[in-house]
Amino acid sequence: MAQQPEPSDWWRDAAIYQVYPRSFADGGGDGTGDLAGVRSRLPYLAELGVQAVWFNPWYPSPMADGGYDVADYRDVDPAFGTLAEAEKLIAEGLELGLRTIVDIVPNHVSDAHPWFRAALAAAPGSPERDLFHFRPGRGALGELPPNDWKSEFGGCPWTRTVNADGSPGEWYLHLFAVQQPDLNWAHPQVRSEHESILRFWFDRGAAGVRIDSAGLLAKDPALPDFEPGRDPHPFVDRDELHGIYRSWRAIADSYAEPRVLIGEIWVSDTERFARYLRPDELHTAFNFDFLARPWEPFQLRASIDATLAAHAPVGAPATWVLCNHDVTRTVTRYGRADTRFDFAAKAFGTPTDLPLGRRRARAAALLSLALPGSVYLYQGEELGLPEVEDLPPERLQDPMHLRSGGTDPGRDGCRVPLPWSGSEPPYGFAPAGVEPWLPQPAGWGALTVEAQSGDPDSMLELYRSALRIRRSAVAGEFAWLPSGREVLAFRRAGGFSCLVNLGGEPVALPPHGAVLLASGPPAGGLLPPDTAVWLQDS
Ligand code: GLC
Repeated sequence: MAQQPEPSDWWRDAAIYQVYPRSFADGGGDGTGDLAGVRSRLPYLAELGVQAVWFNPWYPSPMADGGYDVADYRDVDPAFGTLAEAEKLIAEGLELGLRTIVDIVPNHVSDAHPWFRAALAAAPGSPERDLFHFRPGRGALGELPPNDWKSEFGGCPWTRTVNADGSPGEWYLHLFAVQQPDLNWAHPQVRSEHESILRFWFDRGAAGVRIDSAGLLAKDPALPDFEPGRDPHPFVDRDELHGIYRSWRAIADSYAEPRVLIGEIWVSDTERFARYLRPDELHTAFNFDFLARPWEPFQLRASIDATLAAHAPVGAPATWVLCNHDVTRTVTRYGRADTRFDFAAKAFGTPTDLPLGRRRARAAALLSLALPGSVYLYQGEELGLPEVEDLPPERLQDPMHLRSGGTDPGRDGCRVPLPWSGSEPPYGFAPAGVEPWLPQPAGWGALTVEAQSGDPDSMLELYRSALRIRRSAVAGEFAWLPSGREVLAFRRAGGFSCLVNLGGEPVALPPHGAVLLASGPPAGGLLPPDTAVWLQDS
């Protein structure tokens, strides 16, 4: 029997479902997903078998970056609903056993946020500007940006302001889009404001927060030029961050059921990464190393080993993530010649064998759901949705695409509204006749929740079964089993084992009592290529 963790340790092995509110379900009938839509579909999430739901930002926002440009951290955008509805959603979720994780965006605000408006209206050197990174430009006339940094979305992360008299003024820093000015985390008011925002959502029943761009908040106060190899980096993974997160942990721990802090931290050094997960800092952080690896046995094994080795000394559980709202959908990625994920080399539009990608995505699901730690599912992953690579260019909204001058495909292709039912758009996402904010492809009729429900061969039923079995049979110690080079084989406690065949030939199954679940039919005691199986000892 699997050991049951303490209820307050739920996050150590939870399956957490990511809802991108704009694209989940449209209750209001305007083509944009909303909280009413989510509330009506909570039973779907409970039945799927996840324990918590992480919502991408739902705050008032001009939507320059899909809501990651926040104008007010204590309210809900009218396009999504109201604060009262968010409170109801949190309460209704809990009744169904679903905890809510809210997305916190501390690195930057929207240029429509009152603080930034006040800063623009105030003079250089004013206290209002101190909350951000305003600097004079370089060059004789201040016409050059203050340093040579690059925006995470490409291009220059500095924008010049205009003074009240119309003359060119100071520059402000935005590591992302122009509409996302970075906050100055060396300022005590920035810290106290975010501590208050945490309490605001924790007081409303949020079980935790996902912390956006959590490795970028602290900047070298001198804002020096970027020199390759400069250590510490002027704005990534700086030591000052740990003090910030310790103060957040104290707040999270002050609740009767301690709240959970989940970091979005893109730091490739696994030991530096694990420093954020020390017992008085964050609880968990997304495992982007695993997400980015190609579908190759050596690569995946190396990632699993490095992950477990880095987490063990700090006592934090690993997380397993295959995709999210920023990266290429798994069935597409795994169907390409190049199966890794890399922001700089997206392989967009390259030949894709979708049936192969789907087989591998099914196997990857069983792999990630059998590993020790928590797991994140991105909406539509459980339906096997592919990346939509042929969205009409004029409908694309992602600043990553827009700022690249069209060379980067952006992230809209993984944010297309979900298909729920029916055989043509909007597939039950919105009332018939309403056009979703991003167009859905023809041919998604076979991928709807309705079409897949009850079909034992569907991706949805695979996820449902896997999540159910995971709760009862997947727990405890992890150990590799001897296997061929192209097979990943491991055990958990209680006689459970998982085998994944990443090679080109079928492999024999080891002696076992029962096949609990397989991502494809084992044929004659053999596990086919690109297939995973869960076994139980007799
Ligand atoms: C994170 C989010 C991404 C957003 C960026 C800026 O990486 O996941 O969607 O664009 O931060 O907030």
